[in-house]
Amino acid sequence: MTALAAPNFDRLAGVYRWMEWLSFGGWLWQCRCAFLPEMRTSRRALVLGDGDGRFTARLLRESPLVRVDAMDLSPPMLDGLMGRAGEDRARVRPLVADVRDGLPDGAGYDLVVTHFLLDCLTTGEVEALAAQVKTKLTVKALWVVSEFAIPQGWFGRVVARPVVSLLYWAFGWMTGLRVRKLPDWTGALERAGFVLEGRRSRLHGLLVSERWRAGSGEPAA
Ligand SMILES: C[S@@+](CC[C@H](N)C(=O)[O-])C[C@H]1O[C@@H](n2cnc3c(N)ncnc32)[C@H](O)[C@@H]1O
Repeated sequence: MTALAAPNFDRLAGVYRWMEWLSFGGWLWQCRCAFLPEMRTSRRALVLGDGDGRFTARLLRESPLVRVDAMDLSPPMLDGLMGRAGEDRARVRPLVADVRDGLPDGAGYDLVVTHFLLDCLTTGEVEALAAQVKTKLTVKALWVVSEFAIPQGWFGRVVARPVVSLLYWAFGWMTGLRVRKLPDWTGALERAGFVLEGRRSRLHGLLVSERWRAGSGEPAA
């Protein structure tokens, strides 16, 4: 299967946080930090689709021993991260790469973070990513996911679905993102052998934060 063309978030790096505040206020930030207490004990984290580094800079402050590999397609986004990390930048390894092309060499991550990245991928791409991520983790590693979602019921039909469609249209226009619908990341993570441990939703289910555990079992057939 041919991969969709990669989006380009470079132009948004400087304005992304303001766009976010104007559209969703502090809700996305609350999602990113929903499981921060559980992440504080991490020693080796992999942040995929890091973006402008606001979350990773916070993780570095809260977790003085963590070392972070931060992967993103966009050099200006990762420049933002290194600026925000300040003195903690020595504990960050910025990696400009497409997560669909493979993950960093080595293993032993006890934390994986994907905040609003999986919605840039198809279900098949999330499946391939989850299978790869699994090979890089310690036995009880965490994967923290923040995402948009379309809940069951009238709110999902009347509000969430049109909002998500509008976001896809806007990001398609601004970045060239070709994906047009939310992937089934839940199924993809389950099939790779991850177990959902905790879930919080906001804005009636339009936003979700999830905490997945690597588990010791084999991927589901
Ligand atoms: C919607 S932004 C979210 C950024 C950040 N995680 C946050 O919570 O604000 C998506 C980010 O993922 C990056 N991205 C999208 N597709 C990617 C891919 N295939 N590989 C690596 N990074 C990707 C973009 O460059 C962008 O920085």
